[in-house]
Amino acid sequence: MSDADSIFADDVELIKNATVLEEDHTPKQILCRDDVLDQYTSVFKPVYKGRPPQNAFLYGDTGVGKTAATKYLRENLEQDIERKNENVPKEEKVALNLVWINCENFTTGDHKTSSYQVAVGIVNRLRNKGNRITGTGYAPQDVYDIMYEELNSLEGTVLVILDEVDKIGDDDTLLYELPRSRDIGYVENIRVGVIGISNDYTFRKNLSPKVKDSLCETEIKFSAYDAEELSDILRARADKALYDDAYDQETISLCSALAYQEASGSARRAIRLLRRSAEIAEENGSDLIRPPHIRQADNDLEYGNIVESIVDQDDEKLYILKALAHLDSAGLTPARTRKVHTAYSQVVQTYKSESGRGPLTQRGMFNHLSKLVMFGFVHTIDRNKGVGGGQWNEHEFSDDVTPQQVKDAFENHNLEWIEMDLRGIHD
Ligand SMILES: Nc1ncnc2c1ncn2[C@@H]1O[C@H](COP(=O)(O)OP(=O)(O)OP(=O)(O)O)[C@@H](O)[C@H]1O
Ligand SMILES: [Mg+2]
Repeated sequence: MSDADSIFADDVELIKNATVLEEDHTPKQILCRDDVLDQYTSVFKPVYKGRPPQNAFLYGDTGVGKTAATKYLRENLEQDIERKNENVPKEEKVALNLVWINCENFTTGDHKTSSYQVAVGIVNRLRNKGNRITGTGYAPQDVYDIMYEELNSLEGTVLVILDEVDKIGDDDTLLYELPRSRDIGYVENIRVGVIGISNDYTFRKNLSPKVKDSLCETEIKFSAYDAEELSDILRARADKALYDDAYDQETISLCSALAYQEASGSARRAIRLLRRSAEIAEENGSDLIRPPHIRQADNDLEYGNIVESIVDQDDEKLYILKALAHLDSAGLTPARTRKVHTAYSQVVQTYKSESGRGPLTQRGMFNHLSKLVMFGFVHTIDRNKGVGGGQWNEHEFSDDVTPQQVKDAFENHNLEWIEMDLRGIHD
């Protein structure tokens, strides 16, 4: 069959190695981070030497290399220890047990991650498949007991890496106890080091003093990248991912500039942008990624980000956004609060009839609506007709939000999108 008969064969192919552009790819080299890597390496040094490990807390904005640098050092540490162990007598061999937990993975729907769930996660990382415990059904103290028993059956150093540790929430029992477990007497045979990683500054600020005291023994800040650093990172990635002729200097600098401006120096955003731009260029049959492809890709990513942030909203806010989506489609926005409330009430009745809980009052809804204004989804206009003319609010989507995004968010949330006709709605 010739290419002309195939519906999948593309005329042009710009991407040489797509896995290099994937989210979970760990680069072989961490660029532009020499200072931070020096500091971070010295946290791991005692482990390599078989001395008591240090605890550390890593923080910085999203996409600035915290996870990537940690994976990179972890791989190097494991390799170096293996090499060292081959050449030293038995009593000098270093035993390292490394447990990596992404605390985000324990958040499902309304079910928040807690110290308890992370402890369950640690137990299950250390046990074989048939022997794992479930995330419910144990008293918290039992879970901690099982965890310490499991840890104590190991030897040498146990390094627990808690990525996205802010997801652990207010219950910081584990963050307090784990680094001190040997002092407290929970374990005897091992030394425990904990590395916490977070992009949530409030979490860091609100850590209790006793946690700060132990976990934040060393604090490492990852600052945002500037456009030039993003270019360096992106150029290295493009070199592996794309064919040489697929991109030029302009591709790299525009992707970096946009990621710098719009995503406050996130390398993740820059890499996503490069990948989407390459796909768009391919779809357009262009053998070079050009600025219009990059701008289109940037719009696509922005669109997706808004959908994602709508998905994160609670039910009441989703209902309000759905009400506004229908009002918008019917040409009824900006709409007065009362009208939004009528539409919202209809939405609630459609979705909640089974649970039996009714809509919030207009005032109750207004509080949620104000939050949506604060988050930038909704724009409120203050109408003031002077003395005797009255004063009221009207609401509409802000410029970045469309009804389709709300619909996409419902579908991503596995909520059926029920069509509604609000044309006859009155104030
Ligand atoms: N210095 C760097 N050199 C090479 N690649 C990098 C560098 N920094 C970040 N990256 C890449 O950028 C992407 C995002 O980085 P990473 O996942 O480490 O961010 P993060 O700081 O952990 O963000 P978050 O707080 O959202 O988890 C990854 O694909 C990573 O490989
Ligand atoms: Mg990360």
